[in-house]
Amino acid sequence: MKSQALRVLPVVVSLFAPSILCQDTLGLDDGYIRLSTTKFDVQIVSDAQVLASLKPAGGTFDFLPFDYLPLRAKDGQYHWGDITFRYRTSGSTAWITGDSSKSRKKVTTLSTGALAASGLAPTLPTGPLNITREWIDVSGDLGLQFTIINSGSSAIEIGGLGFPAEFNSIFTNRQASDMLRLCSLSDPYIGMHAGQIRVAPTSGDGPALVITPIGDTPMEAYRNLAETYYEDTAYGSQVFEGFYEWQVLSKAWAENEWSGKEPWNEPSSRTLQPHESLRYGLRFSVAQGGVRDLDSTVLRTGTPVAHGVPGYIIPRGTAANLFLEASSAVNSTTVKPVGALTLVSAGDGHYTVTPSTSAWGRVRLTVAYADGKVQTIHYYVTKPGTEAVASLGQFLTTDQWFTDTSDPFGRAPSVMTYDYEAGSIVKQDSRAWVAGLSDEGGAGSFLAACMKQAAQPNQGEITKLESFVDGVLWKTIQTPDFAVRKSIFFYEPAAVSGYTYDSSIDWTSWTSWNKASSYATDRAYDYVHVAAAYWGLYRAGRAYPNLIKSHTWDWYLNQAYNTIIRAMKADVGYNKVGLMGETVFGEILADLTREGLSSQAKTLTAAMKSRADQWNTEAVPFGSEMAWDSTGQEGVYYWSKYFGHSSTVTKTVNSVLGFMPTVPHWGWNGNARRYWDNIYGGKLRRIERQIHHYGSGLNSLVLLGAFRSDPSDSYLLRVGYGGTSGPVSNINEDGFAAASFHSWPDTLKWDGLSGDYGPNFVGLVLGTGTYVVQDTVVGLVAYGGVLTSLGDSVSVQTADPVRRRIFIGPLGVLISVDAGIIDNFSYVPSTGEISVTLSQLSSVPVAAKAVLWAESTTGARNYSVTASGITKTRLGWQIPLSSDNVTVKLA
Ligand SMILES: *[C@@H]1O[C@H](CO)[C@@H](O)[C@H](O)[C@H]1NC(C)=O
Ligand SMILES: *[C@@H]1O[C@H](CO)[C@@H](O)[C@H](O)[C@H]1NC(C)=O
Ligand SMILES: *[C@@H]1O[C@H](CO)[C@@H](O)[C@H](O)[C@H]1NC(C)=O
Ligand SMILES: *[C@@H]1O[C@H](CO)[C@@H](O)[C@H](O)[C@H]1NC(C)=O
Ligand SMILES: *[C@@H]1O[C@H](CO)[C@@H](O)[C@H](O)[C@H]1NC(C)=O
Repeated sequence: MKSQALRVLPVVVSLFAPSILCQDTLGLDDGYIRLSTTKFDVQIVSDAQVLASLKPAGGTFDFLPFDYLPLRAKDGQYHWGDITFRYRTSGSTAWITGDSSKSRKKVTTLSTGALAASGLAPTLPTGPLNITREWIDVSGDLGLQFTIINSGSSAIEIGGLGFPAEFNSIFTNRQASDMLRLCSLSDPYIGMHAGQIRVAPTSGDGPALVITPIGDTPMEAYRNLAETYYEDTAYGSQVFEGFYEWQVLSKAWAENEWSGKEPWNEPSSRTLQPHESLRYGLRFSVAQGGVRDLDSTVLRTGTPVAHGVPGYIIPRGTAANLFLEASSAVNSTTVKPVGALTLVSAGDGHYTVTPSTSAWGRVRLTVAYADGKVQTIHYYVTKPGTEAVASLGQFLTTDQWFTDTSDPFGRAPSVMTYDYEAGSIVKQDSRAWVAGLSDEGGAGSFLAACMKQAAQPNQGEITKLESFVDGVLWKTIQTPDFAVRKSIFFYEPAAVSGYTYDSSIDWTSWTSWNKASSYATDRAYDYVHVAAAYWGLYRAGRAYPNLIKSHTWDWYLNQAYNTIIRAMKADVGYNKVGLMGETVFGEILADLTREGLSSQAKTLTAAMKSRADQWNTEAVPFGSEMAWDSTGQEGVYYWSKYFGHSSTVTKTVNSVLGFMPTVPHWGWNGNARRYWDNIYGGKLRRIERQIHHYGSGLNSLVLLGAFRSDPSDSYLLRVGYGGTSGPVSNINEDGFAAASFHSWPDTLKWDGLSGDYGPNFVGLVLGTGTYVVQDTVVGLVAYGGVLTSLGDSVSVQTADPVRRRIFIGPLGVLISVDAGIIDNFSYVPSTGEISVTLSQLSSVPVAAKAVLWAESTTGARNYSVTASGITKTRLGWQIPLSSDNVTVKLA
């Protein structure tokens, strides 16, 4: 969801206002110490000796917010070089806290042979731990090293130890073009000795940065740092998510603030005898070639790298692949829960990873190397993809099915927002839309239910959804001229006499819209969900005509079309920015064309072209209703590509790579940055890095599309497939899908509400498939399928959640069907000949025929179905489906 109230307009601030400088405890007046290594130009603050500026040598791009440092010079504001810890003397129970930022004093300069060294005693509470900090040169990289000595006379247990990490992810008061030019985003890999922080410029272009361990410095946990909110930078807001720390030891946190939660790694502590010391360090390395060069940069530091295919969200019933690269041999692998995964070595660091038939949810694989390093790889096991989709449809149309036709808001029958923790439909919410069947946060559930029919139709579900369309969508959510209301629930007691609003809810917020505000039709985003819902039913009814009863397929397609055209009228706001899920507009255009509805296709094309042409003139075409967002890229990419605006396409793909990482952890792999939408669609409302919120599914459409155009760029598939797999992890064993997973270590759970999950599922349906790639690192593999090379042919069994789309990278061809499934396929690399076996899922009604489309995405070769007696239809080929499997050849 998006707010009107929170829009932050970029203005230029005065950075050196005296009121700010007088709160400087860093000692900025005393200036900076310049350091350099062959790879970096560095500045540290002279007095505090914390990192102020970090630029690749000779470059201008700063990974740190040097320009905002005067705004971040107060006590309690964290920087690289700070340290936080908790300890207790052995035998006592209470933890004693230390934090170098809390009461800053000038540190004691030491001479150790390092680039810079200091004793931290002045800036820490008095105690037995004597801490020395050094900035060091590590083979031309920058290193940060701490030596901790127990200078007391008793043994000391250290149960918390963290290194705060600061980057220029402060968007506050920056113009959009400056944000794209100056800022960067970071994400962790919480993988012990293989742990990392990856940092990408928000432009996605230019050098990237990675931080890896020096010696025995595992990333055991990654903790969000609390800082005081000040207006000038707005820590913990929509324009500044906030910072985190690399935690080496976390037992003291796990026992207290995180008690009862399942941390990513085993929390640990270390005991120091009197005079004993510990040394920890982190290394900053630049990936000169940008994000695609991060893995090779990590490997050069001696840190192990893992590469999972199809990623780390893996369905039961299919073996996944894992490729490990390390400077030392694997000594052992262990799995928690025991037996959840079976690893079989195929040699050379390649393993097949098979979930057990009962595995579910989070699974941790621990790899111990012969050199003593330990790497953890974090998997999420789901139901087999098509079963997960089936259970989602089932849950949405039963538990989330609202039937109270006495509802004064006219919401029945419909698929409503659901609170899984409470076990009930959300009939009232202070955010009107969440209970009001519109906006991402309230339309999400009916949107998912309708899209599910496009992917995997079900008679009972479609019958219910038809009654929703006639009884609610085309009656109350929309007006007769196809406008879409922002909510059909509202807070206005006088307008619904006799209705009882829940007195435990605070109805005074701006989000508790009255009837007029709810009934406004000026938010273009809302139209996309409605168009997509109609399109889902069109697709289901077109391929399975017996399943729709109230209208014919063409009615649904026309409703979709007219809803888009209405969205483009001048009285609707935001229709000139990229809209979440609007890839479906492209699907609707394709279907209008295939159906021969050329006048509609022409009108729609013209409407989209004017937007694409405008974006092509903009420096930063990724606008939104929010100050910063990761939602505009999808639409900008789709239409810029469609109309051939190639530089905008490149800029957009890069922008997505700037906020979508790949690491061996299901939660962050392909997880597009989202951090404020819990406020608008979640149950636990807070600013927080969200895991697999809808940005994952939707932005994966950009990367998968870009990969199809350039199948040699396997990095795009790796990140994109992580993104398109995200929405499967949200679906729990009952079929309930949560809006996102909470990543803060004090929570680590799925949100209670279904909220705005729907657009994530839209991304899945429009993007998922079985993708074959000649990967630059691991060779020929299939994402979302099982690949076998036999003699001169390659065979692939599909295993993605929809099983109707295959992409053969080495041939540059995309093949899709509208009914049944593609069960398996094969191709001969030397001749390019393709065979496709179509089948039907036993759980889905039988289709008499399917239309198959083949599209050359690289322009290399146009394919045709070669069998005789196959008719051409809707710009594809109509294949009769019998009860047997049908194999067709394409050449
Ligand atoms: C802390 O350790 C450093 C380096 O070993 C030493 O020079 C210093 O005297 C120690 N300080 C205290 C208070 O023990
Ligand atoms: C490697 O494995 C062997 C046998 O399991 C064990 O004894 C040894 O300590 C391990 N080495 C390392 C470095 O973990
Ligand atoms: C699909 O699998 C079946 C069963 O293994 C096999 O007979 C068939 O040839 C395969 N289809 C293709 C196109 O390779
Ligand atoms: C494929 O078909 C398109 C449209 O008919 C044509 O323009 C293009 O030249 C063809 N490509 C090849 C490689 O034959
Ligand atoms: C179609 O092929 C699949 C996989 O090869 C097989 O499981 C299924 O039984 C086959 N169906 C028919 C009707 O032959």
